Amino acid sequence: MTELLKEQAGFSFAGRVALVTGAGRGIGQAIAQELHRGGAKVVVTDLNLENALTVARGLDASEQTAIALRLDVREKHDFENALAEIMRRWDKIDIVVNNAGHAKRTPIDDITPEEFDDIIAVNMRSVFLSCQVFSKPMKAEGYGRIINITSLASHNGGTVASPHYAAAKGGAATLTRYFARQLAGDGITVNAVSPGPVSSAKGRLSHLLDEISKKVPVERFAEPSEIAAAVALLASDRGGYIVGATIEVNGGLHMT
Ligand SMILES: NC(=O)c1ccc[n+]([C@@H]2O[C@H](COP(=O)([O-])OP(=O)(O)OC[C@H]3O[C@@H](n4cnc5c(N)ncnc54)[C@H](O)[C@@H]3O)[C@@H](O)[C@H]2O)c1
Repeated sequence: MTELLKEQAGFSFAGRVALVTGAGRGIGQAIAQELHRGGAKVVVTDLNLENALTVARGLDASEQTAIALRLDVREKHDFENALAEIMRRWDKIDIVVNNAGHAKRTPIDDITPEEFDDIIAVNMRSVFLSCQVFSKPMKAEGYGRIINITSLASHNGGTVASPHYAAAKGGAATLTRYFARQLAGDGITVNAVSPGPVSSAKGRLSHLLDEISKKVPVERFAEPSEIAAAVALLASDRGGYIVGATIEVNGGLHMT
């Protein structure tokens, strides 16, 4: 595909190296596909290596432009190992999408301190660790795009989600603004995409599908590709003046 055709098909990520967390399925998979379609070399990471491998092989079975790595976003050394592998292969990292997340709808009386901490680690501390590790090579390069996937729960306190998830996503939104200010002068933009209900959650919300859809002005869940479209703008060169912003992709369910 020529560069011109790629541009017409969406944003161009030619020459860029991107990493997506939690990309073994759902929204992360759609983001990996979007970035790869635009010409990026993509590192598909997930806690579940099998799923990450399936996604990466679907993009490029030869591993020239897409590879899979196991990366548990709760572990700093997993981020460091991923960075070392990326530097060995491609010598830079341009785009990082912190997508991995995990919600638990545990009744409030049953939430243990351990579960609370784990939800914070997966959804919020992960954003800190990722920015901490990947901002260094981006600073050296003078270029970077970091996109954090938050949630409508960060705005409304959570309806179907539990309080630890909503609080963690709120913390991820705050970290987005912190790092955005800190890194803007180094050519690195940090922004968030905040989805409302997405079809990847339909299995988990099967008893609430009709009720939720009726509340959304567009009367349906988003497709993962519709979240990926907003990520693409923020990940592109053309998004360079968007700093510390949150793009809400929720079908009008919440308007600010
Ligand atoms: N689906 C929705 O309705 C919705 C709404 C708002 C926000 N979000 C957010 O969007 C992101 C993606 O959601 P999704 O619907 O695709 O979820 P999903 O459950 O379909 O996929 C999440 C992926 O993250 C991986 N993952 C879980 N824990 C991990 C860890 N510790 N380290 C690395 N990977 C891990 C899982 O293996 C899975 O592949 C999440 O951050 C979620 O909170 C989703």
